[in-house]
Amino acid sequence: MRITVLTGAGISAESGIRTFRATDGLWEEHRIEDVATPEGFRRDPVLVHRFYNMRRADAARARPNAAHKALARLAKSHDVTLITQNVDDLHERGGSPEVIHMHGSLLGALCANCGHRWPATLVMRSLDPCPSCGKPATRPDIVWFGEIPYHMDRIWKAVEDADIFAAIGTSGQVYPAAGLAQHARRNGAETVELNLVPSAVSGDFTDMRTGPATRVVPEWVAELC
Ligand code: APR
Repeated sequence: MRITVLTGAGISAESGIRTFRATDGLWEEHRIEDVATPEGFRRDPVLVHRFYNMRRADAARARPNAAHKALARLAKSHDVTLITQNVDDLHERGGSPEVIHMHGSLLGALCANCGHRWPATLVMRSLDPCPSCGKPATRPDIVWFGEIPYHMDRIWKAVEDADIFAAIGTSGQVYPAAGLAQHARRNGAETVELNLVPSAVSGDFTDMRTGPATRVVPEWVAELC
């Protein structure tokens, strides 16, 4: 049985990492156009690096929770493809063997000039020279609004091949991630949403598990294992 899982910020919320669209979410304090677009980076790279340095520090302080660990257990006994919109590394630190980061990762740095990638340090600055071309064009290796998510070929195939598709802790407001459940269902998968509240695409799911991820994800995994 092939299981494809998509996670969003809600799976890391109980590890202390802020989500985006809650009442105290990141987008209440920062304008997306300032910190999560290529135009914002061109306009003020210092502000963008400060935003991601803060998120990198938050992620470094956070610990994987029972939901991350449950998905790692599931991967030990099932054919699981784990896709995340999150840029933290809590899935990896929770024991998941392979994670597809469709929106990039806080652990990565990218040269806006030559496209070279290298491991990010905890604090990054735009004037840090690219190790390859030497230009001061360092940016976080994060997919911003208006950019193409990473690994989409692998993602579409994992969704089409899935017998079960699960979305955990995502509001279903950002495409193409928000469209994956509908695509899975059209390809014959059972679809289940695990969330505190219904998302914007709850109608695409045949099953809903309502509650905090640290409770509903281990319960769901226990049913499968
Ligand atoms: N357990 C389960 N779900 C939770 C929990 C929890 N403890 N806490 C919050 N949630 C749910 C919320 O109900 C909401 O549906 O997590 C979701 C968080 O939604 P968003 O903040 O919109 O985060 P996400 O869906 O991951 O955003 C998608 O948008 O801003 C961009 O690139 C960014 O990857 C991000 C994308």
